[in-house]
Amino acid sequence: MRRVYLYARFQRFWHWMQAVIIFALLVTGMEVHGLFTLIGYELSFHVHNFLAWGLVTFIVLAFFWYITTGDFRQYLTEGNLLEKIGLQVRYYMNGIFRNEPHPFKKNEISRLNPLQRITYLMLTLVGLPLQIAFGFLYYYFNELVAFGMDPDWIEPIALIHTLLAYLLVAFVIMHVYMTTTGHTPTSNIKAMVTGWEEIDE
Ligand code: HEM
Repeated sequence: MRRVYLYARFQRFWHWMQAVIIFALLVTGMEVHGLFTLIGYELSFHVHNFLAWGLVTFIVLAFFWYITTGDFRQYLTEGNLLEKIGLQVRYYMNGIFRNEPHPFKKNEISRLNPLQRITYLMLTLVGLPLQIAFGFLYYYFNELVAFGMDPDWIEPIALIHTLLAYLLVAFVIMHVYMTTTGHTPTSNIKAMVTGWEEIDE
């Protein structure tokens, strides 16, 4: 085994802040949606909007960090992406239960497998920006109507925002399960806390 440093301090900080903010957004969002009463509609509404700005701030900081450090390269895949994703899916559906080795070995310059790369990229470049955009459309709806937007659009905007929130819940459940499929069930999570992970030579 070899100890490798996979996650820099800012990356770990950003990851856990993002997780806490998204979790709090989901809880306050569900309260605003009327699913339960926890801190009250009014407070949930204000906390939800404040956290949304917090998330936007962290995403902007994270983009800056990934670009200036060159770490965004971890998300690029050489060769046939579909074929590589196929190998990884086959491993999760089959190989993992037969104790087969991971099809892609981790190291300092390649810590994510092709399926993780595409999932995290789609989440960060498509899913979260869409969710945030629809949230802001919803929040500033009255102002937008004053500028000529059709008031009937409120329903599809609310529906898409809610649908994307449920997709985010599905991502988090799947993501946490997937993080237990490393060398040991907790090795990936430990790496996201300390930065270090033990990997096969
Ligand atoms: C709630 C929203 C969450 C989001 C949006 C999120 C997003 C991400 C992203 C984008 C990465 C890749 C970072 C990189 O290598 O550049 C990542 C990695 C990771 N996340 Fe999360 N995460 C969330 C919650 C969690 C939670 C709750 C846990 C564990 C309890 C967790 C554990 C991990 C671990 C261990 C990794 C390392 C790589 C891996 O195994 O995939 N995450 N996460």
